[in-house]
Amino acid sequence: MSSDKGRFISLEGGEGAGKSTQAKALASALEAKGYSVVLTREPGGTSSGEIIRELLLSGTEEKWNTRTEALLFAASRAEHCAKLIRPALERGDWVISDRFIDSNRAYQIVNGELVDQDILDLHRIGSGDLMPDRTFILDLPEEVSAKRAAARDRGGSDRIGRRNRDYHRSVMANFHKFAEEEPDRIRLIQGDQAPNLITDALVQNLQDLMK
Ligand code: TMP
Repeated sequence: MSSDKGRFISLEGGEGAGKSTQAKALASALEAKGYSVVLTREPGGTSSGEIIRELLLSGTEEKWNTRTEALLFAASRAEHCAKLIRPALERGDWVISDRFIDSNRAYQIVNGELVDQDILDLHRIGSGDLMPDRTFILDLPEEVSAKRAAARDRGGSDRIGRRNRDYHRSVMANFHKFAEEEPDRIRLIQGDQAPNLITDALVQNLQDLMK
């Protein structure tokens, strides 16, 4: 029953949105339908990308300036696209990435030093503009997201996760804006439902890609 065409799905959202859980559940649901699925994440997904992940997410806020941070995320993605995502799609696999370009667009423009087009330019240079066929944004009320992230990280959140409430509120506003601008690719999914209902909604929103 597998389609001969690989499809590329990304899952996005704020901290504690349940992306990783849903990425796994969606992979299982697609495998049960006969698709071959590659589950991956960003930053990371390749051995060198995972090294960049560690560089980005550990240490103090001052460790990287805004531009270096944006370049490192784009560099991790360039490796990811070249070594893992494109080859998988060419084989006809489905790829599910826990975060991708839209996180770069939502997070690295918040302080106003870079704009959306800068991030898209880096993506063109690094990754040849590869875009997901569908992107899901798991949408959670701010309070729920903050509580879940705190419970998950137990005070040990990463360099970006520990930025303040205003920062994370702007990230979510950016995600909402992208969803409004690109309704065909980007779907907002209510993240505070039972996990199995969220997975059902994801599968439902992929029907058109399964032909
Ligand atoms: P994760 O732990 O949810 O996988 O994400 C790692 C952190 O990196 C999270 O705080 C979001 C952030 N991030 C960016 O700021 N820009 C990006 O391009 C990506 C992929 C993640």
